[in-house]
Amino acid sequence: MRLLVTHNLLGKWAAHYLSRKLQQFSANSTRPFVLGLPTGSTPLYMYQELVQLYRQGKISFKNVITFNMDEYVGLPQGHPQSYAHYMHTNFFDHVDIPKQNIHILDGNAKDLEAECNHFEQKIAACGGMDIIFGGVGEDGHIAFNEPGSSLNSETRVKTLNYSTIVANSRFFNHDLAQTPQLALTMGIKTILSSKEVVILAQGIKKARAVCQAIEGAISSICPITALQQHNKVVIACDDLATYELKVKTMRYFEDIHDEYSALLNQLTNNVSITAHKI
Ligand code: GLP
Repeated sequence: MRLLVTHNLLGKWAAHYLSRKLQQFSANSTRPFVLGLPTGSTPLYMYQELVQLYRQGKISFKNVITFNMDEYVGLPQGHPQSYAHYMHTNFFDHVDIPKQNIHILDGNAKDLEAECNHFEQKIAACGGMDIIFGGVGEDGHIAFNEPGSSLNSETRVKTLNYSTIVANSRFFNHDLAQTPQLALTMGIKTILSSKEVVILAQGIKKARAVCQAIEGAISSICPITALQQHNKVVIACDDLATYELKVKTMRYFEDIHDEYSALLNQLTNNVSITAHKI
């Protein structure tokens, strides 16, 4: 488990990290790159930056296959709060990814269980995910794996808990009756099966979850702690999201120099050079 404090460069760092991974991959492989993707407010800047990099000709998604982490059950097709709508308007419609390479769970499928099983089979048929990006809920949920989710879970139908429904109601006129109570979600095992995991966390509301993820014991009550079992995972976050961590934890991670921090230093220097020029 690695912690990287990206300060105000979270979205930019995440987009450039993915861009690098894609470039390294395409230089060494001809098969498609398999990418797991999140929704939520946190990854919005990452998507904006990826679209920018694509427009600048620095990145292409022609040879990328995507799998989205989760989707609500029962929202009408094209509903502005569906995750499918989010992904198309914020990302897919602005880049060169072939439509057939996009996989988003269908929350209106007649047989939801079959839809979930088919999704798992498609991930496996692609050889598994090369990297997955995710966010985290205030209570430590990842995708829609609520507290208490089996650490061995695969893609399935999940009943959302009250606090998640309340948090999501901000997108449904603060009306709990309009807010979906069920979702389809990758399981924790599905997420752990990705070769690499990047979690993005932003704001004081995520501080407890980040602290549990790094300093807490592995427990299904805080699903993000399951990532401690993975051998290539980074939690990238802003300053506020670190507020519950011990000083010695912070110092330890600050002293690590690796590909994550090297990229951050490069982006930080670029930002200050640009700021200086202005
Ligand atoms: C929902 C999503 C999660 C997401 C979380 C946090 O629960 N299913 O995948 O990580 O919200 O979202 P936000 O980034 O808006 O805080």
